[in-house]
Amino acid sequence: MMRIVYVNGDYVPEDEAKVSVFDRGFLFADGVYEVTSVLGGKLIDFSGHAARLRRSLGELEMESPVTEEALLAIHRELVSRNGIEDGLVYLQVTRGVADRDFAYPAEPKPTLVLFTQSKPGMADAPMARTGLSVISIPDRRWGRRDIKTVQLLYPSMGKMMAKAEGADDAWMVEDGAVTEGTSNNAYIVRDGTIVTRQLGEEILHGITRKAVLALAREAQMKVEERPFTIEEAQAADEAFVTSASTFVMPVVRIDGATVGTGEPGPVAARLREIYLKESRKAAI
Ligand code: PDD
Repeated sequence: MMRIVYVNGDYVPEDEAKVSVFDRGFLFADGVYEVTSVLGGKLIDFSGHAARLRRSLGELEMESPVTEEALLAIHRELVSRNGIEDGLVYLQVTRGVADRDFAYPAEPKPTLVLFTQSKPGMADAPMARTGLSVISIPDRRWGRRDIKTVQLLYPSMGKMMAKAEGADDAWMVEDGAVTEGTSNNAYIVRDGTIVTRQLGEEILHGITRKAVLALAREAQMKVEERPFTIEEAQAADEAFVTSASTFVMPVVRIDGATVGTGEPGPVAARLREIYLKESRKAAI
């Protein structure tokens, strides 16, 4: 089935969706993105993703090509045209087309592309019942990971390093502490307390992270935002990751060591359940 894709104002079949070879997204990775999940045909936490997009653009002195209202309409139109029940909407804004030059163009015309990915039953992923196995790798990304740029080569390499070792994903480590997963935020649970790295330039400020921590606090669970090491994670009762594409996903092995019982733990399972329930309720 041919998808309908959005490119700079037009809805076109995916094989007609084209961007210039001079686009700065292609030449310099000069662009930012968002991934918003869709459950039951509705967008999960659209306003959170729109707010982070605004912030990413602002940090890079880029203008938003359309208003937030128009962005929502485009998301909805794509979900509808592509008949997405469960899946994702991917959005990318680049600084646009300009002759190759490291300096930003004086009058940039941003490129805006959105497409959908259908993932039937994504809320019932079998991985949520078995849990992920992760390896640790050094964090070799740039220093502004709070900006959601399309520079994803190192995270891609990390996934490949994990695959080569028979694992599912990698957790990145800097100055002895875990920063985050290749495409998710990382957590451990110790004596009932949820521990996750504090916000800063070292990690992406996950939209799922924000929602899950708020729900955890509402449910009277204790949350500590601080760095933790791989050794602490291996000795923890539970571990898990969060992202728009996986929601709350348990981690049961870290560098070959079993976490807790080796089965997904009760805190991750409960958070996954509450998160899915509440986000379905608030979906638009
Ligand atoms: N990735 N950290 C990194 C490095 C990420 O790439 C992501 C999301 C997250 C979680 O953020 P959120 O909860 O807002 O999805 C944390 C998306 C899903 C992706 O690249 O596909």
